[in-house]
Amino acid sequence: MPERKPKFYVTTPIYYVNDVPHLGHAYTTIAADVIARFKRLAGYDVLFLTGTDEHGLKIQRAAEAAGKTPQEFVDEMVPIWKNLWRRLNISYDSFIRTSSETHKKAVLKLYQKLFSNGDIYKGFYEGYYCVACEAFYSIGDLKNGNCPIHNQPVEWLKEESYFFKLSKYQNRLLEFYEKNPNFIQPSFRKNEIINRVKNGLKDISISRARVKWGIPLPHNKKHVVYVWLDALTNYISAIGYGENSVEFKKWWPADLHLIGKDILWFHAVIWPSILMSAGIEPPKQIFAHGWWTVEGEKMSKTRGNVIDPNKIINKYGSDAFRYFILREMPFGQDGDFSELALNRRYNSDLVNGLGNLTKRIFTLVEKYFNNKIPEPKKVERIDNDLISKVDCFKEINSYMNNLEFSRALERIWDAMAFCDKYINETEPWKLYKEGKIERLSTVTYNLLEALREISLLLNPFLPDTSKKIQEALNTQNQTFKDLYWGKLTPGLTIKSMEGVLFSKIKMP
Ligand code: MSP
Repeated sequence: MPERKPKFYVTTPIYYVNDVPHLGHAYTTIAADVIARFKRLAGYDVLFLTGTDEHGLKIQRAAEAAGKTPQEFVDEMVPIWKNLWRRLNISYDSFIRTSSETHKKAVLKLYQKLFSNGDIYKGFYEGYYCVACEAFYSIGDLKNGNCPIHNQPVEWLKEESYFFKLSKYQNRLLEFYEKNPNFIQPSFRKNEIINRVKNGLKDISISRARVKWGIPLPHNKKHVVYVWLDALTNYISAIGYGENSVEFKKWWPADLHLIGKDILWFHAVIWPSILMSAGIEPPKQIFAHGWWTVEGEKMSKTRGNVIDPNKIINKYGSDAFRYFILREMPFGQDGDFSELALNRRYNSDLVNGLGNLTKRIFTLVEKYFNNKIPEPKKVERIDNDLISKVDCFKEINSYMNNLEFSRALERIWDAMAFCDKYINETEPWKLYKEGKIERLSTVTYNLLEALREISLLLNPFLPDTSKKIQEALNTQNQTFKDLYWGKLTPGLTIKSMEGVLFSKIKMP
């Protein structure tokens, strides 16, 4: 019997399709993709879910403005999002749309559960609403009368509504956080949430009477399910909740919901309470990353500084974009985006770093060994230093388990810097001139072997670049099990690397 792989279920938020994707959306999705790819190479059976949030007032209004029905409108928007994910090499396994029939069925099933459990009651909602967040606010939450997240005017709502008894779950939530200290990450955000929950929870409105574009309540068709209850259900509707118990059992609980800090309350408080009410285990971890500003300013349409990932890909390529956003700011913190910073990192880390090193190594084996992998001979001290510098999987794995992408990348670049140093110190061109072919063989072999491991470690981050190196080395299809020194077979022929991996780009 083959060994059963452990499972790993990772999700992104599902994105509102009222508009086209920007830097922030790409950020969460790229991070999730890197984790999914990393876990696959580490031997996990991975389910990577993303999708689109298609109901609610925001979409309804965007469709009206475009002169389309909401369904026509979302059907036209979804391919724009999928196209960006294709260009960014996002390896999702499943894509959920909230306007799909399977999703709607799951929402109604979950709603019915909460209802039969006595956790839903009819009431009257009075308060503020931010359409951009699709969220309810009390006056104390507002900043200068505006939404604290979007800094836009909020709308006053006064309508009949169904409520979910969130207040009932306060103690169970606090116990759950206590027993599962890693549930909310990073920990500084966890403390914020725990303090707010300790201050008391108010029941939440979970239906909208004036919104037409949504899932009608089974017992009162004048209301639709509040878009956040609808949206959160995606994490279970996509894996067969209420339909396919084998799939559901296999994947649930999710191992990781990756989200941005603005939607942590929904994921860390409302979502587990709903699941508890329905008798379903909460997910294992919610990780809230920080936000990007652009040259010091909040990204917004009115400021006209929204970063379109497609434009960056056109100029720098998908791998460079993926690299930059994960390397530039520690995951969890806020950070600033500027083309200048991207350009600098691109030229220094990718062109001069990875690109140059790769070229240097392939040139050695082509020039001195006619592309045949040479046989390593006597090991010297500097060889051992190189071997131990490249042997970093344990460290990288632990960074990745904490979602410290930038540290993981830094560590891989350390290994590359050592390779450069190794070349400078062993001086292969001199070895050749002096006829020290045995030593030259060892040095070249070691560099090829180091590059093999580095390209494998880079695979989740820079899939296109890694593939190019691996194809030349003939090492595609390797997994992290192959991260041991000496896997390359001497005597085999490798291919030449055509051209360069990255070419210098001048700042405009
Ligand atoms: N539809 C909801 C999520 C429902 S999940 C059950 C939603 N969608 S969204 O399209 O508005 O945003 C999705 C993600 O983009 C969020 O995680 C948010 O944090 C992220 N970002 C939006 N702007 C951002 C930045 N400027 N920087 C980083 N991420 C940001 O919310």
